[in-house]
Amino acid sequence: MKKSSKKRESSFDSFNPLENKTVILGVSGGIAAYKACDIASLLRRSGANVHAVLTPNAREFITPLSLTTITRNPAHCEQYGQSSNWRPEHIELAKSADLILIAPATADLIAKLATGICDDLLTTMVLASQAKVMIAPAMNPVMLQHPATQYNLSVLENRYRYDIIPSEYGEVACGDWGSGKMAAVETIITAVAARLLAHKTLATKRLIVTAGGTREPIDPVRFIGNRSSGKMGIAMADAAFARGAEVTLVSTVEVERAYPVVVVETAQEMQEAVESEFDLCDALVMTAAVADFRPMAVANHKIKKTDSDDLVLELTKNPDIIDLLGRVKRKDQVIIGFAAESEALLSNATQKLKRKNLDVIVGNDISVPEIGFGSDDNAVVILSAEGTRENLPRMPKRAIAEHLCDVLSERFQMLEKAPV
Ligand code: PMT
Repeated sequence: MKKSSKKRESSFDSFNPLENKTVILGVSGGIAAYKACDIASLLRRSGANVHAVLTPNAREFITPLSLTTITRNPAHCEQYGQSSNWRPEHIELAKSADLILIAPATADLIAKLATGICDDLLTTMVLASQAKVMIAPAMNPVMLQHPATQYNLSVLENRYRYDIIPSEYGEVACGDWGSGKMAAVETIITAVAARLLAHKTLATKRLIVTAGGTREPIDPVRFIGNRSSGKMGIAMADAAFARGAEVTLVSTVEVERAYPVVVVETAQEMQEAVESEFDLCDALVMTAAVADFRPMAVANHKIKKTDSDDLVLELTKNPDIIDLLGRVKRKDQVIIGFAAESEALLSNATQKLKRKNLDVIVGNDISVPEIGFGSDDNAVVILSAEGTRENLPRMPKRAIAEHLCDVLSERFQMLEKAPV
């Protein structure tokens, strides 16, 4: 008997899909807190490194010792406890997390997350982290249906970082019936695993990503350029590569990467590089700021100062790379464009989406300081050809890129299901 149970455990333990993933399991104070032990156990046995963080109220329902034993890591409770490390515990935990799962999430905890209140270790750690947060609400059905709770949930739902694992219908601990029962442990683990393994979704895809601003020479020393730093495009290429895509970055900015980087200067060079790979690619993501015009003629020598107060430069139109490729793209290819707008963001981006036959356009308002050109952050609106619209508030460009990878994998799934 003993022998067979040992065998069963070892074969289960040899399957570690969540190996190298760190999950912070937040537990707040509701009766469903006792299920945190099962969640912690399944996560750990799937290979994840699990750290439990309990709110003070959670300790009324479950002991830190149980979670320490099950996770094989010390459970964390005290915001101001002694730490062996110089870095505050909430920062240490925040930085280590690949994902934060809060199960159960009470009405009180959801309200704190929605408003940014951080008065204990768990809420402070969530605020200090940039990791994805998944929450499994659990509460009395009347509390769940209360407009305040519904509002707080809708606030979180609209934030890119949060995924809500809906509660289920059934009899809750107090004997009432309705929606409010925490989702089944298996449902929660499946959702967490799907999120953590999402990176594999671009594994068989080939992507071209463009980055930076083109430079259109006037003479050997001068050019017409723009303020694009390439950060958005490089973040996009990095994120897609990390999810297993075969990436070619066509960039005006030189970077060293494990994937091919084709360095170009002008719009025409960018066009040539993109077009030479376009047939073979599954998706093109044009974050580059391409000059619409270039000098008609490039002077062979540095243009000298003359007695005249004026210098007239004659310009000619550059090819619109994305527009040309939008016309010839196959049904199984996806094109994502960006729109840098200083006014009428929505209507201008929508027009570009339609005019250039794009699948998706990512609009950013470049009149807002600290986002867009050159900055580490961006805030965007994502519009699709089907008419959907999603706003992503200010966040690091890498987080925007991760979200665009989700958008891409969803579109690929859609294409695979579409009738030929
Ligand atoms: O590089 P960063 O400093 O990180 O800044 C990021 C960014 C602000 C440059 C980026 O987020 C962005 O908005 N990129 C698009 C800038 C732009 O040129 O927008 P547009 O509205 O002019 O062009 C619309 C689309 O057509 C873009 O996908 C562009 O790449 C493409 N285009 C434009 C002109 C042209 N001749 N050929 C093109 O393919």
